[in-house]
Amino acid sequence: MPLPPIFRGALRVPVIGSPMFLVSFPPLVQALCRAGVVGTFPHVNARTTEQLDAWLTEIEAGLAAHRAADPQAVVAPHGINLIVHRTQPRTEPDLEVVVRHRVPFVITCLGHPGKVVEAVHGYGGTVFSDVTGADHARKALDAGVDGLICVGAGAGGHASAQSGFTLVREIRAFYDGCLVLGGGIGDGFQVRAAEVLGADLAYMGTRFIASAESQASDDYKRMLVEARVSDLVYTDRLSGVHANFLRPSLERHGIDVATLPPKQPFMGGMNDPGVKLWKDLWSAGHGVATITDVPPVAELVDRLVAEYAAARAVPPSPSLAAR
Ligand SMILES: Cc1cc2nc3c(=O)[nH]c(=O)nc-3n(C[C@H](O)[C@H](O)[C@H](O)COP(=O)(O)O)c2cc1C
Repeated sequence: MPLPPIFRGALRVPVIGSPMFLVSFPPLVQALCRAGVVGTFPHVNARTTEQLDAWLTEIEAGLAAHRAADPQAVVAPHGINLIVHRTQPRTEPDLEVVVRHRVPFVITCLGHPGKVVEAVHGYGGTVFSDVTGADHARKALDAGVDGLICVGAGAGGHASAQSGFTLVREIRAFYDGCLVLGGGIGDGFQVRAAEVLGADLAYMGTRFIASAESQASDDYKRMLVEARVSDLVYTDRLSGVHANFLRPSLERHGIDVATLPPKQPFMGGMNDPGVKLWKDLWSAGHGVATITDVPPVAELVDRLVAEYAAARAVPPSPSLAAR
C-alpha cells in the first residue's frame, strides 16, 4: 500500500510516535522527528491556542535548524492530534492555527473528521483518523481521510477491546489505503509484525513515555519500568471511554475502580479536584511487559531500526522449516 508522499523517504523505520496527553510536548516531538520517526502531540497539551501557535513555531524552527545543520539527515515530518468531539471548544480556533502553520500531518480522534479533512486538504496536508473498529473506520473513510490508525486492544490511553490482529485484517478487506496499527507495539520485531499483518506503519505511545524527552514525571517513568501487564486496569469508569491505566497510580490516591460509579460522563474525569485523570492517574498499555529502561529517544529509535532490520531477515521458524 503506498505511503502518503509526506512519509516517503522521510522515515528510518515505519513508526509514528503517537500523540499523548500530558506526555508529548515539543521536546519529545522534535526528538522523534530528528531520530527519523513521526513526532506528534495532542493540541490540548498546549494550554491555550496562543501557546499552540508558539509551540508549532518552535517545532518548525527546531527541525529546520536540524535539517540545515545536517542536510543528509532523515528528518521525519511532525504532526498534531485534534480532538473533534463536540464538547471540545478548542477544535475550531486550534484548527485555524494548524492551517496557518500548514502542519504536514493531522490525526483526528473522538469525532467526525469532516471539517478537519476539508481544512487540511486545503493546504495539501495529510489527515489520518484513529479508529477502534470497522464501523468507525467506514465512517472516517466516508469523511475523506488519507489513512486509518487502528488502535487495538492493549493500547495505552483509549483502546479498543478488539485485537489488532483482527482489526487490521477486517479493515484491510475493504480498504487498500494507508493503515497504521497501534496497541502494545514497542520494538522493531513488533513493527515488522504489523507490516506482515498488512499495516504500513506502526503507532507507538507507551514505549515513548519511558524516554528521556517525554514530559512524564520520573515517578511515572519508573512505574512503567516496574509495571507488569497484571498492573493495568482496563476501565470506562475513569474517563467514560475504555482505557488502560496503571493500577499503582490509582492506589496511591486510594482509588479502587470496582467501587467507582459504573460510568462517568464523557471525558468527565474525576470529581475530586485534588486528583486529576491523566495527570495523577497514569495510563499505559500492554507495552509495559517489555519496557525495562528510560533511554533517550535517539537511542530507542536506533534500537528500533536494528530490531526491524533483524526482523526482516528472520527466516521461517526452524520447527516449521523442518517439517
Ligand atoms: C498517557 C497517554 C495519553 C494519550 N493521549 C492521547 C491523546 O491525547 N490523543 C490521542 O489521540 N491518543 C492518545 N493516547 C493514545 C495514543 O495516541 C496511542 O493510541 C497509544 O499510545 C498506542 O498504543 P501503545 O500505548 O500501546 O503504544 C494516549 C495514550 C497514552 C498512554
